[in-house]
Amino acid sequence: MTIWVPELSGEGPRYRQLATAIGRAIESSELGPGTRLPPQRRLAHALGVTVGTITRAYGEAERQGWVEARVGSGTYVRDTRQRSGFSHVGTTREDDGWVDLSLALPPADVERDAALARALASIQTDPTALTHALDYQPEGGLDAHREIYARWMTALGLPVAADELIIDQGGMNGIFLALSTLARPGRRVATERLSYPGVISVAGQLGLRLVALDQDDDGLAVDTLATRHDQQPFDVLYVMPDHQNPTTARLSEARRNALVAFARERDVWIVEDGVQHLPVSERGTPLYRLAPERSVYLFSVSKILSGGLRSGAMRVPAAVRERMAMVVRNVSWMPPPLIASVVGHWIASGDADHMLARQFEELEARATMTRAALSDSDLRMRPGGFYAWLALPTGQRAARVVERLATQRVKVNPAESFCVGSEAAPQAIRICFSAARDRAALSDALARIRAVLESPGLQAWQTI
Ligand SMILES: Cc1ncc(COP(=O)(O)O)c(C=O)c1O
Repeated sequence: MTIWVPELSGEGPRYRQLATAIGRAIESSELGPGTRLPPQRRLAHALGVTVGTITRAYGEAERQGWVEARVGSGTYVRDTRQRSGFSHVGTTREDDGWVDLSLALPPADVERDAALARALASIQTDPTALTHALDYQPEGGLDAHREIYARWMTALGLPVAADELIIDQGGMNGIFLALSTLARPGRRVATERLSYPGVISVAGQLGLRLVALDQDDDGLAVDTLATRHDQQPFDVLYVMPDHQNPTTARLSEARRNALVAFARERDVWIVEDGVQHLPVSERGTPLYRLAPERSVYLFSVSKILSGGLRSGAMRVPAAVRERMAMVVRNVSWMPPPLIASVVGHWIASGDADHMLARQFEELEARATMTRAALSDSDLRMRPGGFYAWLALPTGQRAARVVERLATQRVKVNPAESFCVGSEAAPQAIRICFSAARDRAALSDALARIRAVLESPGLQAWQTI
């Protein structure tokens, strides 16, 4: 059998030439996701280099996030498209009869258009706002913007002072800034075994190693943290205590206290992701209130006002504010002031509260529809949440269900898409009922999901 043999550039150490060639081949799709790289001995022979050079090159390619080594099995091209879950934004959403329930997108609210027009009209006639919008501003955003964000967050049950905030460009930007600030390349970041794919992707890009932590029905298994930290010391713990993505679990107060005690004892930073925002009655005490000295809280308007504006705020402990500001400068110098002015206008005018209340109402109606349509299933969902986590009955395979749903033009994510480590994923799927264009489209998709779940032959692949 022939093997893949790249052409090396001839520049720099051989192992690095090979690692670069692997990356290029993946980028150009010459090597597709899941492809096994050639056995090291055979490639060494073909390229006329030592096996040690190949080992080093594969190690470098792994460090760059291109490939993953599987013990006893070889080195494989990582399936970053599926893992990051971002490749289909806007491609299948309701085209050709598809209903895409794979992304945690907020329900579209037509009232937002008029609210945006009002905000822009107001900015247009306000000389101070225009100057602010057009000039360079401080890394953390204008004082006025931090104040209005602080006011709104506090009203939403996230008490924070303006000088603790850095305005950013939403949740992904916050994750990138926080991890860049709190962990050096090569160090470890820990999160639940099933976690938000964005953090997996950012960690890979920053050269951080991920530690997959145990979780159960009640969220992160906090009592296992110390043992995991003994085995694989990590600098940062990334968690979603109020609405775990994808499982919807919420951490109890007891677990929050134990988590904070662990973080203090081991001197671990906490990144608390609150982007999947729930009503205050559905949330616990924010970790940053329990351990302000070591917690970054990520708040974003993406899931509550608009995903397109790209605006959010990070609550940052004083000790790292300067470092974080430097990272902001490196990435984008500052958050765009015009965008923060739009959000500020929405907050000050009451539009933001109004839109959020409408959204919660819409989500409640959709949750009720989902529960009714899938009443026989093991569903987990939270009031104000975007998605349901559906654990399949014993014997059913998530991959099979997802494949069958695709034949019915419904897209959902299997647990596999959220896997941090290389362990087997549970047989479960995430259904983002928030993402359907409207309730009629959701109702249609739910009927198709129900029909698929009741169809025979979901147990095993038909194969010989
Ligand atoms: C848990 C979590 N964090 C962060 C993000 C990214 O948020 P943003 O769109 O504000 O970048 C998402 C988006 O789905 C998310 O679910």
